[in-house]
Amino acid sequence: MKLGLGAFAALLGGAAIVQAQCPDYTTFSQVPQGNKSSGPLALPYMRPAPACRTFNSSAVEKVIDDMKARLKDPDLARLFENTFPNTLDTTVKYFDENENLAFIITGDITAQWLRDTANQFAHYHSLLSIDKGLATLVKAVINNEARYVSQYPYCGAFQPPPESGLPTSHNDWADGVLVHPPVDNRIVFECKYEIDSLCGFLKLSRSYYQATKDASFMNDNWHTAINQIFRVIDEQSQATFDDDFNLVSFYNWTGGNGALSPAVPNGGNGEPKAYTGLVGTHHRPSDDISVFAFLTPANAMLSVELSNLANILDSAQQLKNVSQLARQYSTRIHNAIWNTTLVNNIFAYETNGFGGRYVMDDANVPSLLSLPYLGFLDKSHPAYVATRKVLLSRNNPYFAAGKAFNGIGGPHVDAWHPWPMSHISAIFGTDDDQEILNSLYLIANNTNGLGLIHESVSIYNPSDYTRPWFAWANSYFAEMLLDLGSRKPHLIFNDGKPYVPGR
Ligand SMILES: *[C@@H]1O[C@H](CO)[C@@H](O)[C@H](O)[C@H]1NC(C)=O
Ligand SMILES: *[C@@H]1O[C@H](CO)[C@@H](O)[C@H](O)[C@H]1NC(C)=O
Ligand SMILES: *[C@@H]1O[C@H](CO)[C@@H](O)[C@H](O)[C@H]1NC(C)=O
Ligand SMILES: *[C@@H]1O[C@H](CO)[C@@H](O)[C@H](O)[C@H]1NC(C)=O
Ligand SMILES: *[C@@H]1O[C@H](CO)[C@@H](O)[C@H](O)[C@H]1NC(C)=O
Ligand SMILES: *[C@@H]1O[C@H](CO)[C@@H](O)[C@H](O)[C@H]1NC(C)=O
Repeated sequence: MKLGLGAFAALLGGAAIVQAQCPDYTTFSQVPQGNKSSGPLALPYMRPAPACRTFNSSAVEKVIDDMKARLKDPDLARLFENTFPNTLDTTVKYFDENENLAFIITGDITAQWLRDTANQFAHYHSLLSIDKGLATLVKAVINNEARYVSQYPYCGAFQPPPESGLPTSHNDWADGVLVHPPVDNRIVFECKYEIDSLCGFLKLSRSYYQATKDASFMNDNWHTAINQIFRVIDEQSQATFDDDFNLVSFYNWTGGNGALSPAVPNGGNGEPKAYTGLVGTHHRPSDDISVFAFLTPANAMLSVELSNLANILDSAQQLKNVSQLARQYSTRIHNAIWNTTLVNNIFAYETNGFGGRYVMDDANVPSLLSLPYLGFLDKSHPAYVATRKVLLSRNNPYFAAGKAFNGIGGPHVDAWHPWPMSHISAIFGTDDDQEILNSLYLIANNTNGLGLIHESVSIYNPSDYTRPWFAWANSYFAEMLLDLGSRKPHLIFNDGKPYVPGR
């Protein structure tokens, strides 16, 4: 028997998961591979060969079989089959149960983003109570991230843990960047400060606890990480100047020679901010620089996740002081959102505390369009309904529409490349069947015949798309189809009966 490197890795019980004969998935994902679905879109089967998959879960396979048997449109069934397992099929670069460490890449870039990881596993939450192996993997992801956050709470993307023996990646985009506090590039891939990265870590932690009731991940690493998150919240809630006009700067980031981004004003601090009760951020969930520091949807997510943190700490009878603080901050941020970001029922995407408002939306979650998905408000709330109307119209500078595709994008690619992800958020935010079907088929029709969800698609030319391998987008799509399966079964299932995995 010929053992591939992957098999050796498995025998050694947890080295890096490397499969020598397996094609690179960035290349693989750009060419139609297996059988085509029998619907009009004829979407190819795009899962890697079993021997090339980076993690196996029988619970995940069962959900795929269940959904394929129920989905009435074979094209949607194929999309589900390709997207639901994509995180496990392609992104688990390293997992060692004994070390309690796992390294999860975002897809086509070999680095672990705190935000992406939380989203890459969100659609598996209901399976953690029935698949012990999968739960152990997620616990190892949390522990690896707890270590990152303990050391570098201002950073969002990281290198493999040294235990993995994996090489670090060079990030061209971090060349010439001046960042304070300084970072070690052997640990940090990119140190952009995005408050929602920390929310991602909190969300993954509480989802694991909610599904398993296992509090063993709340170790010293995790406690340190939680304390660091509170430190960042305190530091970033402060105004740019104190009463005597001393500069208050705990983090600053700007490009020097060679940085592939423009210099950031005010010594890398960005636009000044005044105290409002919100928590500032330096970059957006797209990794683009913020225009104003107070990003409404990131604060919404923070408010929700702090409240969830308090609930799991109370349930696990741990850190009463932290749970009280978490509730207090959650309420403060919640009130500040309603008090300072809303005008005529329209939320601003960003504010600065001086009256500056940027009314727009960016596709990356947390976004304004995803406020119901984040758990901040109900999709029927008048402020959401009114804001949504603006976001999905020409009044949002980053909405664009062409013959085949439309939606919300962002400056990360450009204003004429909307993101399929915006339609997924839109679906989570409405009960209107027609709107749901329209968004669903805009996504399905625009995979460039590849059966995977891409980052962005041009409104001028739907075969002009970005990121062939983007695990978060695939996971978010599958999560949305599962949600429709329980919320709107008549729209997508043969039998019209609701389906909830793991029940
Ligand atoms: C898919 O293709 C393989 C050959 O690559 C074939 O053996 C198999 O029957 C096909 N399956 C379906 C469902 O068409
Ligand atoms: C997943 O299962 C296949 C066999 O179906 C095996 O070849 C592969 O090595 C497994 N992957 C991992 C990471 O264990
Ligand atoms: C940048 O941040 C560091 C703290 O990390 C601070 O000491 C320094 O004064 C800041 N510089 C500027 C120009 O704000
Ligand atoms: C909570 O209490 C623990 C133990 O006394 C302490 O180490 C930690 O710093 C406190 N955390 C906060 C946020 O006050
Ligand atoms: C902010 O909102 C809360 C609750 O809605 C309210 O009690 C408080 O007075 C408001 N504060 C300001 C400054 O408007
Ligand atoms: C998707 O494509 C089909 C043709 O295959 C077309 O009938 C339908 O209108 C398209 N839907 C959307 C929302 O673009």
